[in-house]
Amino acid sequence: MSKSVFIKTYGCQMNVYDSQRIGDVLAADGYTAVDGPDGADLVVLNTCHIREKAAEKVYSEVGRLKALKDARHAEGRTMIIAIAGCVGQAEGPEMMRRAPAIDLVLGPQTYHRLPALLARVEAAHAEGKPGRVLDTDFPADDKFDHLPGEATAPGPSAFLTVQEGCDKFCTFCVVPYTRGAEMSRPVAAVLAEAGRLAGLGAREITLLGQNVNAYHGARADGGSADLGELIHRVAEIDGIERIRYTTSHPRDMTASLIAAHRDVPQLMPYLHLPVQAGSDRILKAMNRSHGADDYRRIVDDLRAARPDIALSGDFIVGFPGETEADFEATLALVRDVTYAQAYSFKYSPRPGTPASVLADQVDEAEKSRRLAALQALLDSQQQAFNDATVGRRFDVLIERPGRRPGQILGRSPYNQAVHVTLDDQTMSSYHALIGTVFPVTIEAGGPNSLSGRIAAPQWTAA
Ligand code: 5AD
Ligand code: SF4
Repeated sequence: MSKSVFIKTYGCQMNVYDSQRIGDVLAADGYTAVDGPDGADLVVLNTCHIREKAAEKVYSEVGRLKALKDARHAEGRTMIIAIAGCVGQAEGPEMMRRAPAIDLVLGPQTYHRLPALLARVEAAHAEGKPGRVLDTDFPADDKFDHLPGEATAPGPSAFLTVQEGCDKFCTFCVVPYTRGAEMSRPVAAVLAEAGRLAGLGAREITLLGQNVNAYHGARADGGSADLGELIHRVAEIDGIERIRYTTSHPRDMTASLIAAHRDVPQLMPYLHLPVQAGSDRILKAMNRSHGADDYRRIVDDLRAARPDIALSGDFIVGFPGETEADFEATLALVRDVTYAQAYSFKYSPRPGTPASVLADQVDEAEKSRRLAALQALLDSQQQAFNDATVGRRFDVLIERPGRRPGQILGRSPYNQAVHVTLDDQTMSSYHALIGTVFPVTIEAGGPNSLSGRIAAPQWTAA
């Protein structure tokens, strides 16, 4: 009988991609995916360590799972609980000590070994032993060389990890410790995977990496390709109509990558380019290796290459030592750049990072005040960006049925969600639209999405 697995994903898009690959590894090992932990033989929590209390959230989830696990034991069956991802990597031994219900802890670099690790757990269970296994190695061999093909169709928009790890060591961030050193997949491996995804129906590919624009993948001729070159190559694949990439560091925004925004029509006019802060003093303390004006110049160059490019960013308020004047510099940068979308956070000290032991931690109430002020400004920019699209006609990649009857959901070139209203006749055959790029006239802009109608004459209501 086939075994069942429930995979729960926390955190970033790289974890979403990893969970899909974990699903592929387990499908090849005879597991069927289910949508909840109830009745599952195996539960994998693919965890994220970036925010405060990340581990606490995992422990409370394990507590809930333990009740299910105990109930299954009472019926003479088992449930294996596996912790994957960055919390597992960072706190594996501690997790094994604190939560005896956890059977297996593995990191982001060892999930290709899951079948062997599970076999060890199961063999021990069969002998009535606890059989708990920890594998948070950074193996010398590349996990990507050991992964089976994609088990399920990716949908119209697919993720593809091309780069992992980070050598930047921003002083607030845990990623260099949990994901390890920067590494890039070879060009041929990326192109082969992109080709398979296109064959399975993907029309849009988002190239992923913690520092995706630091990509330098080996080419067959012995040289290495940067991200600009890789984008050109992916754009040549039949069926790939849209390309995106995330997340980028300003320092690696090379001339070749900026030129790709001008030269590759499939590269969408949207870029997530975190700056974190607008004060040079704080950027230096964060070890960001660029100043605020360097960032402004990069944005100017991007806009010269692709005038309609929409920008998104990440911001941290209340980094240790941040004064009111420093914070004002962040607001000034936001006003200068103008964002279509953004994420902003209160600084939170992460154990093991250099900034966590700095004197001069900013008071919580002050952090909250600054965050509210920054978010008000970013929200108003996002609303203005969305409002400015009303009356325009965009190509929208249709991804899936919408939440409301009579609607389907897609994305604009600028990465906005677009709710498309269809007439009854079109709705009855909406399946034909999924995975196609259609012109849509935008009728309204909300804070987080747009709505509109198909603009092609053959699809308009009679
Ligand atoms: N405190 C607050 N925000 C953080 N981020 C990363 N580490 C921290 C931290 N210690 C934010 C950064 C990063 C995003 C993914 O998470 O803005 O770009
Ligand atoms: Fe973290 Fe900085 Fe690396 Fe981004 S560039 S993952 S913020 S250390």
